[in-house]
Amino acid sequence: MAKTNYNLSFMLITRCSSVAELNELASEYIIKDLSSRPRSLFCTATGNSPTGIYQLLADKKDRIDPQGLSLIKLDEWYNLPMDHPASCEYYLQQYMIRPLGVSDGNYTGFNSLAKDTAAECKRINDFLTANGPIDICVLGIGLNGHIGFNEPADYLQPHAHLATLSDTSLNHTMIKSSGVEVKYGFTLGVADILQSKKIILPVFGKNKKEIMEQLFEAKISSQLPASVLGLHPDVTVFYCENDS
Ligand code: GLP
Repeated sequence: MAKTNYNLSFMLITRCSSVAELNELASEYIIKDLSSRPRSLFCTATGNSPTGIYQLLADKKDRIDPQGLSLIKLDEWYNLPMDHPASCEYYLQQYMIRPLGVSDGNYTGFNSLAKDTAAECKRINDFLTANGPIDICVLGIGLNGHIGFNEPADYLQPHAHLATLSDTSLNHTMIKSSGVEVKYGFTLGVADILQSKKIILPVFGKNKKEIMEQLFEAKISSQLPASVLGLHPDVTVFYCENDS
């Protein structure tokens, strides 16, 4: 009789003594993974946590085949113009798409100004149905434990959706001084994330210490969305407690 079990062994944690070490280890991990198959669907978070990693990937771009790389944007501020410097789009263009030479046809992401938000989520869900699952997913953890814009709540949503943003998200440095009023964000859902073959979670800094201590308690709860990563068999956390 076949048995199906979720892996509750929790996640592999690589503790780093500096952010430079974290960036180096994570960038090598990603390059090794991308090199293991001819084509990869790579899901990319934005924010401070992965920036140094993406800069190293750009430095090492000779080892990455842009033809074999498709990017999907994890999340986006709703109503913030795509060319606004605080948008996730602007960030990814700056740190990943242009430096790595990813063509338009190899990039998919939420349109922040989509009028029909349900249709926009369906477009992304349909893309993942046709092209998924994600091969490698780089996440960040919010100060409140969110992943993407999957915010702490009574229940989590599996697929792409428009999320009402928490005060914590609205206070993120990316958006705080943008001058645009933002209330919502598009995000992939937790099932989309958990269906990724590999997940990496880079985290650094003293301000993340408290939420990481909660995460390491391994209590899986929708009130701490990142805790669902404990259900996944291949998550690597690259963690540096220091700010540099
Ligand atoms: C933002 C982004 C997330 C990001 C997270 C953590 O809300 N939408 O994708 O992972 O916050 O950001 P940071 O790495 O800057 O702490």
